[in-house]
Amino acid sequence: MNNLTSQSPSRDGSAYGRPAQHSNPLLTQVGPGTPCGELMRRYWHPVAASADVKDLPRKVKILGEELVLFRDSGGRAGLLYPRCMHRGTSLFYGRIEPQGIRCCYHGWLFDVQGHCLDQPCEPEDGRHRENARQPWYPVEERYGLVFAYLGPPEKKPVLPRYDNLEDLAPDQEFWSNVGGFGSTGDNSLQVVPYSWLHMNDNVMDPFHVQVLHSTFSGIQFHQKFALMPRVDFFYADHGVCYSAIRELEDGQEVDRISSWLMPNIMSVPDIQFKAGQSSGVSWVVPVDDSHFVQATVMKMPRGGPGFALRVNGKTWGEMSEEEHQRVPGDFEAQSGQGAISLHSEEHLVTSDRGIMMQRRLLEKQMEVVAQGGDPVGVQFDPAKAVVKVRSGNFYRAARATG
Ligand code: FES
Ligand SMILES: [Fe+2]
Repeated sequence: MNNLTSQSPSRDGSAYGRPAQHSNPLLTQVGPGTPCGELMRRYWHPVAASADVKDLPRKVKILGEELVLFRDSGGRAGLLYPRCMHRGTSLFYGRIEPQGIRCCYHGWLFDVQGHCLDQPCEPEDGRHRENARQPWYPVEERYGLVFAYLGPPEKKPVLPRYDNLEDLAPDQEFWSNVGGFGSTGDNSLQVVPYSWLHMNDNVMDPFHVQVLHSTFSGIQFHQKFALMPRVDFFYADHGVCYSAIRELEDGQEVDRISSWLMPNIMSVPDIQFKAGQSSGVSWVVPVDDSHFVQATVMKMPRGGPGFALRVNGKTWGEMSEEEHQRVPGDFEAQSGQGAISLHSEEHLVTSDRGIMMQRRLLEKQMEVVAQGGDPVGVQFDPAKAVVKVRSGNFYRAARATG
């Protein structure tokens, strides 16, 4: 190793001779066979909004794997390895039929579980076609999203329900979205060009809302975020929560509880500080080591206006480089950490306790999976599939603090 890069920085803080940099591969590598990739593969992940899966196959990339998602004309969704098992043409160019997807090259037909139903160029349409199987993954649809399970078949858990998404009122509908960048409400950025961990860290970071979103760039969400909260972090259910309490002028206080659930799920309370339980759940789905997509489902008033953050009348995608510099938000702060952050250069402090708890839980559960166990939060009993979501803005009379 080069002495100049491995030695400690000099006492006067010179940038010369800094230590070698590195990321934490355990937390950032998500491909097959990696500890985090195998942990992630034990959970269901959203891959598309159901409404977007129509009569043309779609490319999906998740956890470093390229796949093709389609819906047969009988309405069933399917997720297949894209290289046709015959001679490798992509099923992205396939045709949707009542029973599955037909490869454009020689017409082999596969159903949503990869069974080969037809080989039209072969004698008797393929005498041994029942032995042919295109690699596939199971999918299920809920809350307007298509979820996929990429793990070992014998370990497939039930697809969770979330208590805050159940019982849709007649005047409500689900807003279900895959792609786009959460806090901007702007779909101009479909795939976010940096590690999933940046966004995952962000959710247990209740202090950045006081700085980045309120006192540095002006009020981006709501005036109450400008109050510095009293914060407590705690392990709950199968994840980490924070309680951020802000004292208000009217003798009330608001306890903003936010939750992160293993391994990449979050429920952030209403950013306009509306009272009550959070109305949504989001997933930070790794595309590969240095890209992710955000998926969100939220209960919304039926036919209501969508959400788009505007700065001086412009959406995030319409802002110039200079405007992004003058009014940075989550994207600027997170992309500024690089495509994959350099964890060797971090200095985690008291306010980062929630992030440390998340990372510790992730690493511990990677060990559980490596030793053949089941990580927290996977459930095999359909009767226990409903996950409690604690998140929300809870108002009460202010308590005297010592
Ligand atoms: S390559 Fe798909 S049927 Fe030949
Ligand atoms: Fe943020």
